[in-house]
Amino acid sequence: MSDSKTLDNLSNETRAFAPSKEFRDQAVANSASYEAAQADRLGYWADQARQVLTWDTDFTETLDWSQAPVAKWFVGGKLNAAYNALDRHVENGLGDRVAIYFEGEPGDTRTYTYAQLTEEVKKAANAFESLGVAKGDRVAVYLPMIPEAVITMLACARIGAIHSVVFGGFSADALRSRIDDADAKLVVTADGTWRRGKPSALKAAVDGALAAPGHTVENVLVVKRNAEPVEFGPLDKWWHDVVDAASTEHTAVAHDSEHPLFVLYTSGTTGKPKGIVHTTGGFLTQGAVTHRDTFDLHPETDVYWCTADIGWITGHSYVTYAPLINGATQLMYEGTPDTPHQGRWWELVEKYGVSILYTAPTAIRTFMKWGREIPDGYDLSSLRVLGSVGEPINPEAWMWYRDVIGTNNGKNGERKENPTPIVDTWWQTETGAHMIAPLPGVTHTKPGSAQVAVPGISIDVVDEAGESVGNGEGGFLVIREPWPSMLRGIWGDVERYKETYWSRFENMYFAGDGAKKDDDGDLWLLGRVDDVMNVSGHRLSTTEIESSLVAHPYVAEAAVVGAKDETTGEAVVAFVILQTEPAEGEDVVATLRNHVGKDIGPIAKPKHVLVVPELPKTRSGKIMRRLLKDVAEGREVGDATTLSDSTVMSQIAQSMGK
Ligand code: PRX
Repeated sequence: MSDSKTLDNLSNETRAFAPSKEFRDQAVANSASYEAAQADRLGYWADQARQVLTWDTDFTETLDWSQAPVAKWFVGGKLNAAYNALDRHVENGLGDRVAIYFEGEPGDTRTYTYAQLTEEVKKAANAFESLGVAKGDRVAVYLPMIPEAVITMLACARIGAIHSVVFGGFSADALRSRIDDADAKLVVTADGTWRRGKPSALKAAVDGALAAPGHTVENVLVVKRNAEPVEFGPLDKWWHDVVDAASTEHTAVAHDSEHPLFVLYTSGTTGKPKGIVHTTGGFLTQGAVTHRDTFDLHPETDVYWCTADIGWITGHSYVTYAPLINGATQLMYEGTPDTPHQGRWWELVEKYGVSILYTAPTAIRTFMKWGREIPDGYDLSSLRVLGSVGEPINPEAWMWYRDVIGTNNGKNGERKENPTPIVDTWWQTETGAHMIAPLPGVTHTKPGSAQVAVPGISIDVVDEAGESVGNGEGGFLVIREPWPSMLRGIWGDVERYKETYWSRFENMYFAGDGAKKDDDGDLWLLGRVDDVMNVSGHRLSTTEIESSLVAHPYVAEAAVVGAKDETTGEAVVAFVILQTEPAEGEDVVATLRNHVGKDIGPIAKPKHVLVVPELPKTRSGKIMRRLLKDVAEGREVGDATTLSDSTVMSQIAQSMGK
């Protein structure tokens, strides 16, 4: 994505939309937030931490950076995350407010008020404790988008256990490696879920993950979701047997501000996923503040819907934690956008009166493809803020989001006079919360740009030497100052944390993204500059997929690139050299795609597998992915003079019939 073509395309984008007076007048955050943070950054965060959270013991120091780059925020403070998300709202008389409207893919619904959700979490906390889970223990969570996912995460937080959620689209092997890395004691899963109108199994993958001995799991708790037959072994227990029978009395004890809240694995540039560690006080503060300000949250009246799965950081920060900390009402939907029809999301917006929608560019591009007549057939007048996350949003998708979704004022075709603001939010698993995003009541938003650091965050774009670039120039995105919701490390590997994020530039966090400052100094994200791909907003490592491919007996060598894709942003394209002739009639491409699907998960399956005679390498043996990307994107191949064998690219072209 960070090629000069993209830069040029974006340079032509000059539109900017001011917030309407009507929106500005009611906005939660105004320019005073920037001023306060500018005047006293740490003071700003300390005030915010006390505003959005209830502390059992107040903190004595806002930031301890003496062990940099490992930060301690709100030092000496003690609090309980689940108490902050639940009990205190009930104590404050908000027990009857809806916390979660759940809609299953088949159309079944459940509603949890804050009082009811508090009770469920207390029961789950008691149940987990009865299974021997204690403070500091790790709990692996392999669940679909059902309320039990949120209940499980909050029950862990309540007792100080550390959850490690593994996305349901990951394979048994991927689940096992995450269970092993964190030494999980309990696994919480479901029999299955619903995908595209059909039951899809989950428990079978847990069985597969735990089949080989040598793991640390003592119990597997299974939520009954779709009544598919499951095999029960000695570790397995039904959620409804254990949790439903548990007491609704449970007192939340306060944990240290720096007590780990969760581990979440994400792909990096090496083959092994990293367990990103987040702690309590800072993570909750920045999540809640940005959720309130970026989305202009009015918790008494808004209905908020974040479409992200709980298996990703967006589901952690902006489904489980921030909305509940802020006392918001949210919608949770289990299934796919096209089941049973392509208007399902818009039907849900209309049905629940969703006012804030937070989704990914890949979804928006899919809706564009399906055609505007689908959303036009629903009443979307309740929407007042539209968010985007996960990958750069192209100006066309941004404008479509605004024009089609943001001006819909009812089924009669009427359009809103003031389109709903669009907030493009840049952040990462590692940053824990929004870092770059407009404030919808302040910023003049530009299609395709996340624009400005959120108040209290210090972002810059630097060149190779770490010098700040000027307006109109591009370079590497860095974060100059520690921030409350920053990762505290990589599980079990402090050195890798320092090496990955803090060694490229001195005293700066290197995000791995390319970015550009426009003439106003606004930021435009240009995609990853490392070997990380972004497919439908999901982070995948080229190295991890390459390792999987070469582990197959047919494959001698493999190189993987992310090629530009109209819908998914990037698509995985694999180039492989075979060492064994496949069996006669065997579709080797299908075999290898399925192999990766089984090894890592369906999301990692290459879209294309190209069998080639050679791979382009430099004299030192490094694969020149840039050239393969040219091939994969159907472009003229760029400068190949540093290749050790200058004929390789023509051999590849020949093998592809060009
Ligand atoms: O490349 C950036 C891209 O997603 C990466 C982080 O991925 P992950 O940790 O999975 O978190 C995704 C959800 C926060 C970043 O390094 N990215 C995320 N949001 C944006 C983005 N790229 C451009 N614009 C965004 N708004």
